[in-house]
Amino acid sequence: MEKIIVHGGQPLRGTLRVQGSKNASLPILAACVLSDGVCVIENCPDLSDVRAAVRILEHLGCTVSRAGNQLTVDSRRVSCYTIPDTLMHEMRSSIVFLGSVLARTGKAALCAPGGCEIGLRPIDLHLSALRALGAVIAEEHGTLRCEAPKKLQGTVISLSFPSVGATENVLLAAATATGTTMLLNAAREPEIEDLVRFLNACGADITTTGEGTLVIRGVSRLHGCRHRVIPDRIAALSFMAAVGAAGGDVVLEDVRTKHILSVNRVFEQAGCLIEADEHTLRIRADGRLRAVQDIRTLPHPGFPTDAQAAVMAMLCTAKGTSVIVETIFENRFHHVHALCRMGAHIRIEGRVAIIDGVEKLHGAAVSAVDLRAGAALIIASLGAQGTSIITGLHHIDRGYEKIEACLQTLGAQIERSAESGRQQSKQNQPVRRLPLR
Ligand code: EPZ
Repeated sequence: MEKIIVHGGQPLRGTLRVQGSKNASLPILAACVLSDGVCVIENCPDLSDVRAAVRILEHLGCTVSRAGNQLTVDSRRVSCYTIPDTLMHEMRSSIVFLGSVLARTGKAALCAPGGCEIGLRPIDLHLSALRALGAVIAEEHGTLRCEAPKKLQGTVISLSFPSVGATENVLLAAATATGTTMLLNAAREPEIEDLVRFLNACGADITTTGEGTLVIRGVSRLHGCRHRVIPDRIAALSFMAAVGAAGGDVVLEDVRTKHILSVNRVFEQAGCLIEADEHTLRIRADGRLRAVQDIRTLPHPGFPTDAQAAVMAMLCTAKGTSVIVETIFENRFHHVHALCRMGAHIRIEGRVAIIDGVEKLHGAAVSAVDLRAGAALIIASLGAQGTSIITGLHHIDRGYEKIEACLQTLGAQIERSAESGRQQSKQNQPVRRLPLR
């Protein structure tokens, strides 16, 4: 089993270019199915979730090639409308293929993704929206059998919650539907804007009219395009939290500062110094941070739920008591148990986490149980005294491209190593200082 070993206490210094966005890349790859041409996706990170999406594209009949961070997707020969369970289970957000496969082939058969570590993850909003567009969907023992007996028909859809995935499925299903679709209370995350830009570059006709309303005028076909994926705002925020936790002075390049404004406030309240222009951000942290009392995760442009774990890890050693309310997912505090093993004082009351800051965390053997919780453990270990061993790396590799290499360039004492069969990382054991090189 692979593990990451961190010797904490090293401030981070240097410059780091932020990866392309996982959560923009995945729906854009699903959208390639709608094109009867070739799409070139630039700045597409090499992540396990992206590789899972590529496997689905190839199963559907696309040919995909990668050159560095550029993916070329030829979807002229899409012929298949079924996605096997094995591929669906590799990545729960594969549900976003439903809209594009249904729109392209008139049918779709795939298994409902089911819940994950952070919550039940229902898809009722997806299904009701697609049915409003004319899809006939039968749910049998966890399998969705969908048909569009006539072409999908534009209509007015109002989401009861600005679901990111449901918004994406409506965009993909309505882009080539007959007539116009108005989507009210749509998600406003930057990844949605990027998907709209991609679809319009392929010949779609989608406009945003004000806060959370999308108007999709159906077109007859979508051609290929070249598109550059936006930077990953959650990866950027994760590295910012690493500086907050370990101290230091880091410049992040290729960020979109406007996408993280709601979180910058929290970093500045905590005592980090931030200087930023449109595409570059410098963050400095020196000494103990201050607690932040009023963090509440919300749909964009509010504080992103995906940054909750990273910011909590940073605030474990802040002076005072911080409070974080997780309003988006019902079970997104998995990182708390491991942070407490590292010496953090955190209480959970329902969806509220109360973090009583301690002077220092200490190294420990901990295991990631979901993507963002895993990043939080690395962040906490960077500022901790002593050595930490982090396992469960397959969760982290879903969303962070070479995370240990990125942190090494900033001077962190971190390395990834395969574990021999003999040694087993024992949870909760003090860890010996391991030679890094
Ligand atoms: C996307 O998930 C992201 N994933 C998540 O990032 C992110 O946390 C989430 O949006 C919120 O920003 C990708 O983009 C691949 P939602 P998604 O539909 O689309 C409820 C990460 O770490 N809901 O906006 O699944 C749902 O239960 C991942 O990168 C329904 O009730 O999020 C949740 O409570 C984790 N019915 C809330 O809405 C539905 O039909 C937000 O879900 C759909 C959602």
